[in-house]
Amino acid sequence: MKIHVEQGNIVSVAADTVIVNLFEGVTTPGGATGAVDKALNGAISDLIAGGDLKGKAGEVVVLYPRGAINARRVIVVGLGKADSFDLESVRRAAAVAVKQARELNARHVASIVHGAGIGGLDVGAAAQATVEGSLLAAYRFDAQKKKEPTNEISDLTVVEFDAGRIGAIRTGVEQATAIVAGVTLARDLVNMPPNVATPTRLAKAAQTIAATHGLGVIVGDRDWAAERKMGAFLAVAQGAGEPPKFIVLEHNADRTDLPTVVLVGKGITFDTGGISIKPSERMGDMKADMGGAAAVLGAMEVVGRLGIPLRVIGITPCTENMPDANAYRPADVITAGNGKTIEIISTDAEGRMVLADALVYAESYNPDAVIDLATLTGACVIALGSGVAAGLFCNNDALRDRLLAASGATYERIWPMPLYEDYRRTINSDVADMKNSGGRSGGVGTSAVFLREFTNYPWAHLDIAGMAMADKPSDYTPAGGSGFGVRLLIAYLMSLAEGK
Ligand code: BES
Ligand code: MN
Ligand code: ZN
Repeated sequence: MKIHVEQGNIVSVAADTVIVNLFEGVTTPGGATGAVDKALNGAISDLIAGGDLKGKAGEVVVLYPRGAINARRVIVVGLGKADSFDLESVRRAAAVAVKQARELNARHVASIVHGAGIGGLDVGAAAQATVEGSLLAAYRFDAQKKKEPTNEISDLTVVEFDAGRIGAIRTGVEQATAIVAGVTLARDLVNMPPNVATPTRLAKAAQTIAATHGLGVIVGDRDWAAERKMGAFLAVAQGAGEPPKFIVLEHNADRTDLPTVVLVGKGITFDTGGISIKPSERMGDMKADMGGAAAVLGAMEVVGRLGIPLRVIGITPCTENMPDANAYRPADVITAGNGKTIEIISTDAEGRMVLADALVYAESYNPDAVIDLATLTGACVIALGSGVAAGLFCNNDALRDRLLAASGATYERIWPMPLYEDYRRTINSDVADMKNSGGRSGGVGTSAVFLREFTNYPWAHLDIAGMAMADKPSDYTPAGGSGFGVRLLIAYLMSLAEGK
């Protein structure tokens, strides 16, 4: 979908479909909605008076102007109550309207910026949210497109009457376009089948990002990892038929004067559990076990596009976890890159193994903050639910606060969890510095304190096991790969860059 910004009147804009909106409780529409209503001789006011249009969130009505305005179709979308209105309401309203337009086979859609009028939102942020909601809702995975010819909107024109607002709208639209490109990449990588989204394919994605936006890139193979004594990463990779790749993307690597943030993403391209094999039922879902890596690659795409003025490093340790004659076993003792030894209890606790070496490697950048994202534990899904929130573990108050603020702004929800010492005791080992599993109870906390053993900087861990893949569609997220984490990370980085 191509995005345009146009200063002008919604009544005369060149489009087959125009989208306007209505707050709940408004009886006489104003602004652009009022202008359309007037041109339609009060048709929208009639709908309101007759109780057919209330302006509730999620509500949508279609009118046919029959020549009264340039477009042949008008969509009015409800914005809900003005007092609970925020950027998330904007994204959702945009999504509802665009999905309705697509359903009706619209090709060229024009929309006003939702919430910049009586909504009182910052116009740039509202424009960004309008375009984000529209594009994210229209997402389809490529392979799905080929099955049958489906409706596609080719153009979206954002229309604003007030010339003084066009500059801010353009900036918001540019940011939205960049962010959506990152979310789209992350969704695509998660949606690809595991024989396609291999470590090699993820490395290719990283190389494309690097080449397009001038980032540095390292693709480490087994030998590269062995030279760096990444025993934990290599233990998981031992049983893999697909060659493992330890991928690093560097943005502004030589600008050590800038704050340094390292993003780490778990990149298990398929998790069978290894020798501690998983039940076959729903094992296919474990193609999404690289959702953390996908989010980091997606975020690096946005960082490159926007040229965010920070030093940002993305690290994704990528491998399959397979049962094999060469696979690592329960009872093996493994030495990670920092010299700490790990007794393997379950080969299915592989995510923390590959992350351990990535977190140790992150230290070489002397980071001000390290954020890892991982589909790490089923226990986190049990605790917080599927598609509800990611677990947040953090050893630094300022980092936690900034992440929570970014979460509030993006509605990519994260919920703080404790790093109690009690969890550490459950992974005490008689034969090594720690075990890689402490059993079922408290499994999400155990995994987090395990990771903490490999950090010595401000650090946040996001367990996104319940978030990387959506089982059912919602608002602007279709079922399948969600791209969770990209918008959150970018909001975090932008707030850090702005020093707000
Ligand atoms: N990738 C899984 C966690 C997972 C489960 C992600 C469900 C998404 C949905 C992870 O590698 C795993 O197998 N974790 C084990 C840990 C246990 C062996 C300590 C788990 O959660 O059961
Ligand atoms: Mn596992
Ligand atoms: Zn896993």
